[in-house]
Amino acid sequence: MDSQRSPKETVLITGGGGYFGFRLGCALKQTGVCVLLFDISRPAEAIPEGIQFVCGDIRHLSDVEKAFQGENITCVFHIASHGMSGREQLNQKLIEEVNVGGTDNILQVCRRRGVPRLIYTSTFNVIFGGQVIRNGDESLPYLPLHLHPDHYSRTKSIAEKKVLEANGSALERGHGVLRTCALRPAGIYGPGEQRHLPRIVSYVERGLFKFVYGDPQSLVEFVHVDNLVQAHILASEALKADKGHVASGQPYFISDGRPVNNFEFFRPLVEGLGYTFPSIRLPLALIYCFAFLTEMAHFILGRLYNFQPFLTRTEVYKTGVTHYFSIEKAKKELGYKAQPFDLQEVVEWFIAHGHGRSSGSRDSECLVWDVLLILLLVISVLTWLPSSVILSI
Ligand SMILES: *[C@@H]1O[C@H](CO)[C@@H](O)[C@H](O)[C@H]1NC(C)=O
Repeated sequence: MDSQRSPKETVLITGGGGYFGFRLGCALKQTGVCVLLFDISRPAEAIPEGIQFVCGDIRHLSDVEKAFQGENITCVFHIASHGMSGREQLNQKLIEEVNVGGTDNILQVCRRRGVPRLIYTSTFNVIFGGQVIRNGDESLPYLPLHLHPDHYSRTKSIAEKKVLEANGSALERGHGVLRTCALRPAGIYGPGEQRHLPRIVSYVERGLFKFVYGDPQSLVEFVHVDNLVQAHILASEALKADKGHVASGQPYFISDGRPVNNFEFFRPLVEGLGYTFPSIRLPLALIYCFAFLTEMAHFILGRLYNFQPFLTRTEVYKTGVTHYFSIEKAKKELGYKAQPFDLQEVVEWFIAHGHGRSSGSRDSECLVWDVLLILLLVISVLTWLPSSVILSI
C-alpha cells in the first residue's frame, strides 16, 4: 500500500491496562499500528516493545488531554469502564464518574484534538435487563433507564447513547467530523481473563459451586477475547472512507454466535480442573431473592466491611435468563467472522497457574456454604407462606 495515502496510524486505547484492552493493543501492534495504552494501572503482563503506556485517570480531563498530547491520534478505542462485576458493581458514584464522566471527557478531547474515529466498547446490557430475548437485533430499543437493576448497565447505556449521538459532530481541529460506533459484546472469556473466570474458579475451589439455577434450556452467549479483538479492528476499518464509513453511528452485537446454557458453558472448566459438576438445580426466583438480600446486606454493612457479594441480581439475570442476539449485522457490515474457540486453553491457563485438584482429594467441606444453603431453604419456605402468616410473626 502507498505510504502517502495511508500514513502510519496511531490509536489510543482507554482501559488499555485491562485484559481486553491489552489484548487489543497487542493485536493492533502486530498490524503495524502505533499503540498508546491509557489506564490507571499497568497491564498485568509485560508491555511489548513499541507499545506505549500512559498512566492517567479517565475521570480527570487534564489526564485525558495529556494522553492525547504530542501524538496525532486517528482512532480511539474507548474500553475503560467500572462496575461490571463483583463488589465493584455497588459503588455507584465511581461507576458514574468513570462510565459517564469518563466518556464525556473522551468525546470532548476527540473533538478538540481532531480525532476522526471512536469505537465504544458497550455491552449486551444496554438492551437486556432480565427480559427473555431470542435472536434479538440492533433494532431493539434501549432498556428504559429506570428498569436497569444495576448502575453499571444504566451508565453504559447513557454513555453508549452519548457516543452514538456524537457521530457526525464537527471536529475543532482540521476539518471533517467525528465518526463513532458501539460494539455490544457478550460475556468475555479467554486465557488469562481476570474478572469472571478467577471468581468462578475460586467458588469451585472453595466448594461453593454446589448448585446451578434456572431453566436448563435457558441460553446466553459468550465471546472469546480474540473474536472481540477482531470485531474491534474491523469496526475501526468500517469507520473509514474506503469502507464507505458504513459503521458510523451504528451499534453492533458481538458474540461467538453460539447460544449456550450458562452453566453448561463452564462445565469443561469445572471438570477440566478435576471438580464435579453440581447436580442440584435451584429455582431462579429463589436465587434472585437471595441476590437481592445480599445487595441489601452490602448496602447496610458495606461501609464497615466491603465484602464480595456472592451474586448480584444483574448477575442472576445475566446467567439464568435467556438472552442472545443475532450477529448478522456485524457479519454483513463489518465482515465479522466468529472463530470457533472452546475452554481448553482457559483450563490449561488455570492449571499452569497452579489450579486444579490433585486426584484423590475430596471436595472441600465448607461450613459457610452449608449455612447459606439452609438460609436459602428457609427463604424459599417463607416465600411460599401466605403473607398473613409472615405479618403475624
Ligand atoms: C454518522 O455521521 C455521518 C457523518 O455526518 C453521517 O453520514 C451518518 O449518517 C451518521 N450516522 C447515523 C446513524 O446517523
